[in-house]
Amino acid sequence: MEPSFVHNITDKREAYENFIEQFALMVDGETEEVSVLANASAAIRQAFGFFWIGFYIVKNDILILGPFQGDVACNRIRKGKGVCGTAWEKAGTIVVEDVDKFPGHIACSSASRSEIVVPLLCGNEVRAVLDIDSDEIATFDETDRYYLEKVAEIISRNIYR
Ligand code: SME
Repeated sequence: MEPSFVHNITDKREAYENFIEQFALMVDGETEEVSVLANASAAIRQAFGFFWIGFYIVKNDILILGPFQGDVACNRIRKGKGVCGTAWEKAGTIVVEDVDKFPGHIACSSASRSEIVVPLLCGNEVRAVLDIDSDEIATFDETDRYYLEKVAEIISRNIYR
């Protein structure tokens, strides 16, 4: 059966549990980076409808814009810069309740109000980051962090092994 990413579930945990199951079915066994990242951004968009979902990929010590769903965005982000570059430097997830209060936040769109960035790891090495923006304040919390880190693990175990 084809995975379905559209649902009517209002409970966030249940929505993520449902999503993760379908997502793993779609991704497991596919090793092509661009394909997996492209479908991952589309699947997250279909399931949750966030404002912007995409990946920045580490290439030659800079983050380069990868597959995404949403408005056009910045092409390159340096290590330690913005939310993405900081998550890369720290090799850890960053949840930003209000982008205006994050020093150095890079505003690709003025409509973005809150954000979560989750690194994709191969061992301890950051290979890419998943960046999701919301046009509302404080969209992301510990539940999002928990499940989006699972999403990142599913991607990484297939394309960065
Ligand atoms: N806001 C990000 C830049 C990428 S866009 O949100 C798509 C940052 O501060 O790193």
